[in-house]
Amino acid sequence: MYINFWYPMARTEELTDKPMKVGALGQDFVLFRDENGDTACISNTCTHRGGSLSGGKIKGNCIECPYHGWQFDADGNVHRVPSLGKNARIPGRTRIDAYPVEEKFGLILAFLGDLPEDQRPPVIDVAEWDQDGWRPTIQDYTLKANYERSVENGIDPAHNEFVHDTHGFEGEDEEYKVDEMRIVEPSGWGKGFWHDFNAPSLTDDNQMKDTRPDSGKLEVGTGFHGPNQVWTYIHLSDEAWIHQYLMERPIDDSSTHIYLVCMRNSFLKPAMDQNVIDRNQYVADQDVKIIENLNPALTPLTNTREFMTPSDKCILMYREALKEWDANGWRIDTDTVARNRRKVAYAVPGPARRQQKGWVLDSIPLLGAEDAAKLKLKATG
Ligand code: FES
Ligand SMILES: [Fe+2]
Repeated sequence: MYINFWYPMARTEELTDKPMKVGALGQDFVLFRDENGDTACISNTCTHRGGSLSGGKIKGNCIECPYHGWQFDADGNVHRVPSLGKNARIPGRTRIDAYPVEEKFGLILAFLGDLPEDQRPPVIDVAEWDQDGWRPTIQDYTLKANYERSVENGIDPAHNEFVHDTHGFEGEDEEYKVDEMRIVEPSGWGKGFWHDFNAPSLTDDNQMKDTRPDSGKLEVGTGFHGPNQVWTYIHLSDEAWIHQYLMERPIDDSSTHIYLVCMRNSFLKPAMDQNVIDRNQYVADQDVKIIENLNPALTPLTNTREFMTPSDKCILMYREALKEWDANGWRIDTDTVARNRRKVAYAVPGPARRQQKGWVLDSIPLLGAEDAAKLKLKATG
């Protein structure tokens, strides 16, 4: 898991006037809306004596810890320490990490890391969101598996024939093979590919059957953006397109919450939304069953511990990209976090850590580039 990327924390409508606890990167965060309706995301651990802020109340622009009433604002600064009495001077070191937030594509996204604004990787762009002629659906579900395994499944062209009866022939197509993958790099933060494959008609679906009355070639593109976002474009015909965006939030290294923003330019009637959601969930459940049973549960530290074929090309590109982010020192040292569980409260560093010294909570341990390389060496040796 990596700091310094945007993570989907909730659907916009889920965050009401109550605080909400959200797990990400093995840590807890609290989301709340201040009195202006602005959304805040801060670490959930009170710097006094470890209270869980999400159990507290919202008071004006602050969240109040349920234990002794300290009040934290959206920037993580403490405004009130009741036990010190009125007008007491509050030490700066009481502050907690706060994270930049964006609300778009129906989601609340938080930048979990300390990079200054001009260096932050962008959120994947759902370009169709504001375009006429497109309609969204959003759905989310939890996967009891590591998010890297999930992303790799998303960019794997060879599983469709076997895992999804909606996209393939359940292994019964004698002529089956993965055709040429045309590599693309739509942003500096990921790669992907386009290819054609032989897919069934849509005649099983009353609503969509006219769009694709016959089986045959289907044009599909897919790729990753950052460690946790995947785009998949399915062109059912020359006119009917479905563009999907998976945004994944690793709750910890063995569970993941996934948001699927599905844009379509056909079947635009609102009454079709549920049909689209059900169909997507049917497909997602098939993937979940496979991913939750992979061995090892985490992607192996070296590619030689799996036998890759040319259809795994995009997965290899993803693993190369992860290495680049390892080299930036952004990978969380999950072994150390696990070793210190119940003894140390960590916080993912927010951008203010680069400007101010003196923090109560330890910054979450990260693997430097050398540590990551050493781990790989150990796995090969
Ligand atoms: S633990 Fe939060 S105010 Fe004491
Ligand atoms: Fe799949």
